[in-house]
Amino acid sequence: MSQGVERVTAAFRDAFGGEADGVWTAPGRVNLIGEHTDYNEGFVLPFAIDLAARVALRVRDDGAMRLVSTAEAESGTSQLSVQGLRPEHASGWSVYPAGVVWAFKERGIDVPGFDLVLDSDVPLGAGLSSSHAIECAVATALNDLTAARLDAQQLVLATQRAENAFVGAPTGIMDQSASLRGRSGHAVFLDCRDQSAELVPFDAASAGLVTLVIDTRVAHSHADGGYASRREACELGAEVLGVKALRDVSVEELDEARGLMDEMTFRRVRHVVTEDQRVLDTVAALRESGPGAIASFLDASHASMRDDFEISCDELDTAVEASRAAGAIGARMTGGGFGGSAVALVPLAEEDRVRSAVLAAFAERGFRSPRLFTVTPADGARRLA
Ligand code: GLA
Repeated sequence: MSQGVERVTAAFRDAFGGEADGVWTAPGRVNLIGEHTDYNEGFVLPFAIDLAARVALRVRDDGAMRLVSTAEAESGTSQLSVQGLRPEHASGWSVYPAGVVWAFKERGIDVPGFDLVLDSDVPLGAGLSSSHAIECAVATALNDLTAARLDAQQLVLATQRAENAFVGAPTGIMDQSASLRGRSGHAVFLDCRDQSAELVPFDAASAGLVTLVIDTRVAHSHADGGYASRREACELGAEVLGVKALRDVSVEELDEARGLMDEMTFRRVRHVVTEDQRVLDTVAALRESGPGAIASFLDASHASMRDDFEISCDELDTAVEASRAAGAIGARMTGGGFGGSAVALVPLAEEDRVRSAVLAAFAERGFRSPRLFTVTPADGARRLA
C-alpha cells in the first residue's frame, strides 16, 4: 500500500472508525502555457503534477455528508446533508466536495450520503488548483460509487459547474481537464472549444531541465473581481469583433481590431489572441525539439500577462525576473494570476543558483519568502484502493 493511501485510510479510521469503501486521488496542475484562453474557447497546455489530493470515502445510507481534512488548519468535522444542499450551507474547503455533489444531483444522479477524509499535498492558494484536485478526486469517487458513469468530458463539465455555480468562481475547463486527463511524462494539449485533448510528451529531465515552481504565497481568489472582469473584457472584445469567442480571431486580424474598441479592451484581446498562437507554437516546438525549445514562448507569455492582461503582480514579476537572470531559460506566471505561482524551466546544473537568487530577490524587496519546489508531469485522477 502506498504511503499516501496508508495516511488517508489511517486518518479515516481515526475520524469515523472502520474502513473506507475506497481511496481516490486527483492531482493539482501547472499550466505550461495558455492562460485565460480556456474560457475564450482557445488552447491550453497544462500538466498534472506529482502533488495530489486523496480522499477516503464510505457511503452512508442516511443522506448525511461528514467531511474531515487532515490539514492542521482545518480541524473538526463539517456536517452537511445531500438533500437540499445549497452553497450557503458549505464553508471552507467543504464547498468543493459539496459543489460536486450538487453538480451530480443537478444531472439527475442519485448521490448517497458519505463520510470523507481529505488528505492533500497540493499547497493551498498556490495557484496549482488545490481546489480542483479535491473536486476531481470526489467526482471520480462518486462516479465509481454511484450509477453515474460520466466520461472524462462530463466529469470536466460537472466539476466546472460545481466551481461556477456552487463555489462562485467563473473559471474555465483547464484545471479539471489537467487533473482528470493528465498522464505521467506528458502535458495535456486541450482545445477548449470541443474539449479534444492530445497528450504531448514533456520530459524536462531528458533535456537536462527541471520545472521549478515558485509559490509567491500571495493569496488570490478567482471568486474575486479580477478574474471576472478579465472574462467580461474578453466577451466584450468578441462581441465587438462579431465572433463567437476570441478563439476565432487570428494574430493577423489584430491590427484591424485595434481601431474598433477602447485601448484596454484591445490589450485584453491581444493577450488572448497571441497566447493562443503561443500555445500552438509551443506544442509544435515541443514535438519537434523538446522542452529546451519552448523557453522564448514562456517569456513572451509572461510579458503579455504582465503588460496586456495585467494579471501579474510584483512578486510574480520578481520570481520571473530573478529566475531568468540566474539561469532559468524561460519563466512565466502560471494559473489565473493576481498571486499564486510562477514556473521556470531551469537547467539542472543551475537549480541551486536560481533558487538562491529568487530567495534573495524576495528578501531584498521585503516580500514574504516564497516556497520553491520542482514538479514533474503525473497521472490524472484515479482510484488508488
Ligand atoms: C484559473 C481557472 C482556469 C483558467 C486559468 C487561467 O486557473 O480555473 O479555468 O482560466 O485560471 O488560465
